[in-house]
Amino acid sequence: MQGTWSTFAGLDLHLDLSATRPRAGLESALRAAVRSGRLQPGTMLPSSRALALDLGVARNTVAEAYGQLVAEGWLAARHGSGTWVAEHAGPAVSSAPPQAQPIGHRARYDMRPGSPDLTLFPRPAWLAAARRALTAAPARDLGYADPRGLEVLRVAIAEYVGRARGVLTTPDRIIVCSGFAQGLELLCETLQANGVRSIAVEAYGHSGYRRIAAAAGLRLMPLPVDDRGADVAALSAPAPVEGERPAVADQAGAALLTPAHQFPLGAALAPARRRQIAGWATQTGAVVIEDDYDGEFRYDRQAVGALQSLAPEHVVYAGTASKSLVPGLRLGWLALPADLAATVAARKLTAGRLTSSLDQLALAEFIRSGGYDRQVRRARLTYRQRRDRLVGALAREVPDVHVTGIAAGMHVLIRLPTGQSEDDVVARAAQRGLALQGLASFQAGEQQLFPALIVGYGTPPGHAFSAAVARLCAVLREVAPAP
Ligand SMILES: Cc1ncc(COP(=O)(O)O)c(C=O)c1O
Repeated sequence: MQGTWSTFAGLDLHLDLSATRPRAGLESALRAAVRSGRLQPGTMLPSSRALALDLGVARNTVAEAYGQLVAEGWLAARHGSGTWVAEHAGPAVSSAPPQAQPIGHRARYDMRPGSPDLTLFPRPAWLAAARRALTAAPARDLGYADPRGLEVLRVAIAEYVGRARGVLTTPDRIIVCSGFAQGLELLCETLQANGVRSIAVEAYGHSGYRRIAAAAGLRLMPLPVDDRGADVAALSAPAPVEGERPAVADQAGAALLTPAHQFPLGAALAPARRRQIAGWATQTGAVVIEDDYDGEFRYDRQAVGALQSLAPEHVVYAGTASKSLVPGLRLGWLALPADLAATVAARKLTAGRLTSSLDQLALAEFIRSGGYDRQVRRARLTYRQRRDRLVGALAREVPDVHVTGIAAGMHVLIRLPTGQSEDDVVARAAQRGLALQGLASFQAGEQQLFPALIVGYGTPPGHAFSAAVARLCAVLREVAPAP
């Protein structure tokens, strides 16, 4: 099947749609059009009915392709307002996480979420641990190692995640990977090979990880999020009697969640929802991927333990050194159900994606000697003080702005006045040398929340923190002046 699409907002787009897989063909044609700049951010797309007629495909095919591309961040949609090319899509879009994009040369200060303060990396303690570890390591540790990771590190991680995060696991179920990103990629590829076709994701989340899941061939099914975390009820809801799309519950064989600290809204998954998701996975045999990216950084109440402990045979716990140490280490870990551990390890080996044994030796010694715990405590104190300074400054300087998500992590959510354009605020901040990020850039589905900023307080080094906060307050005063 082939269609020429000539009425499209004045653009002439030629789409080759395969007769057997028109939806996949439409998705890739639209991705390519956005990527190449043929479809500019903001361009309205035809209704699914109109496009389906043009192309001679079922309306559902178009609706589902639009839904997938909204979830991947290429398109945006609002009920009643149609579908358009997302503001942050386009030729400049990369598969890297948003925080990995370089900040403009004018941005002296970076308050986008994602990165810790890189100057906090404990260089002397790390060097000492690396030296001790390498001196003592047997020669066999320097060869092609177990794809799950060196045993000494898996033992240290199993002990650490059990003690600090309440994860129920053993060293043979741990897989060390090059960051969460690689762990997620391996998992999604394995699930896809096992017959899983769709994965539920949070309707606001990290676009880089959604793209990893989509690149592995999984369809994304956004779950609404609110101040109690992801609304997982859709996973156990019965199929609708009528309606265009099948229920999420019918399709998703996996779910990717941030239960301890929803990224980016900041809520902890409510206890009833934790039980609900564990029950869904246990009853249906689905797999939940628990992204515990900053679980160590909780300030205001008892640590929220890992969801994994509710269903260890169905939840994959994923941790990372990217927040507690630095992203440049590229070290993360999965605690898996027994059956998945073997297949994910096999895939890691055949794909040649082994993780550096020298870095593993150093991390194992760093954890074993207590250095990791000391670093987490030190970083937690630093970030907590920064959070207090940020929240205090906002309360003084712009008392009307509403700040949420302050109980944990390294970022907060600052609501903007209704009708305020996030892009305008981000542009004003850029003029003052401050890089900011709006909430809309995390949107994955049709759910559309209020205008807001996701403000990271981890990235600016200590000496630049006050100046960064002062610029933030100045921008907010312009757009949300006190009454
Ligand atoms: C939501 C979320 N999950 C996980 C990570 C860690 O990813 P990685 O271990 O690949 O650096 C990050 C880092 O920014 C994140 O924002």
